[in-house]
Amino acid sequence: MPSPTEEVQRGLQDVVALESHLCFIDGKEGRLIYEGYDIRDLAAHSSFEETAYLLWYGRLPTSDQLAALRHRLTELRTLPDAMVARLDAMPSTAAPIDVLRTAVSELSLFEPDESRPGASSIGGAQRLTAALPSILGQFHRRRAGLPPLESRPALSHAAYLLYALLNREPTELESRAMDVALILHADHELNASTFAARVTASTLSDLYSAVTSAVGTLKGPLHGGANERVMELLDEIGAPDRAEEVVKAKLARHERIMGFGHRVYKVEDPRATILREWSRRIGEAKGDLHYYELLRVVERVVHQEKGLYPNVDLYSGSVYSLMGIPHDLFTPVFAASRVAGWTAHVLEEYQDLRLIRPTAKYIGPVDLPYVPIASRV
Ligand code: ACO
Repeated sequence: MPSPTEEVQRGLQDVVALESHLCFIDGKEGRLIYEGYDIRDLAAHSSFEETAYLLWYGRLPTSDQLAALRHRLTELRTLPDAMVARLDAMPSTAAPIDVLRTAVSELSLFEPDESRPGASSIGGAQRLTAALPSILGQFHRRRAGLPPLESRPALSHAAYLLYALLNREPTELESRAMDVALILHADHELNASTFAARVTASTLSDLYSAVTSAVGTLKGPLHGGANERVMELLDEIGAPDRAEEVVKAKLARHERIMGFGHRVYKVEDPRATILREWSRRIGEAKGDLHYYELLRVVERVVHQEKGLYPNVDLYSGSVYSLMGIPHDLFTPVFAASRVAGWTAHVLEEYQDLRLIRPTAKYIGPVDLPYVPIASRV
């Protein structure tokens, strides 16, 4: 039982809140494991669909199981007409992440009971995962004046997400880059948005409510919103020879440089290592290494000045930007991947449910005499 004298773990830092078999972060060695598999192996050999299967079912699929999941996800891409109408009614000036948060919540109004707590929630997990690219594509295409979205069943999840946002089928290299980005973002232990999802699920609330909480939490610039801010920094810097001066000036003003630092990793985030390579590969394919070269200088200066290492958000934006994805869709793209992890955590929460409800150390006064309103000054 906590007493007022007990130490407060600000930001719940280092608090072990629950047991999970989904994801392990070794912050000292810079390793990330999903269900026993190293992220580097998954990034090299797996697909987003296979990784989602791993997170949902706890094992890698056979080829038949993977084919069935791929088929199911393509079937579930199509949104209900009522949802399309709701998306078309949203202001085209709205931030896509706000549209996504609202649409996830609204989608539950048009969905069957399979999203309710219990084993059947896996259907809801697949539905949400399949629907997110369509929600983003439907909204973005209307605001950008692009033709209506088609379901394109031949496209993988990663390729469909790119097609939905770009209105063109991506190259093989672009599809693979997005597939890898989706694999790398799919889960990350008890990060803030996943914790928010689990807190919501722990009240026996439904999957859609949990994912709505998670999207709202991911939005913040200290979490999933950081990659958009990285691109703002790169635009502000402009040329590599200005990078050192701009970054040093920001640090002198005690500003945070987005894309650096992490609560758990004390070395380089392994996802950043892989995405750095993809930033270079996509840059070379497009004949444009501008962002990559800028980021290399920023990395050197931040490490030299603050000893900080890149996190997953440093290089992802440059990969997305070079493929033509608008910056305000970066965090929604993150959500389109992390939804696999959020839903896997919610399913896990339902299996071993205990209301998540920590306690606070009260530091206010007690026993104040109640003052009638007429006597207050
Ligand atoms: N730029 C400059 N200084 C930083 C940064 C940064 N990116 N990150 C940490 N620091 C400094 C802090 O100012 C602080 O210095 P001080 O002790 O002199 O005050 C020290 O490092 C410790 O920082 P905390 O905020 O206490 O560390 P915490 O574990 O709470 O923060 C966080 C982790 C929020 C990710 C932080 O590193 C940060 O703000 N990074 C920038 C935002 C970002 O890139 N977020 C994406 C994270 S990955 C993800 O969510 C997908």
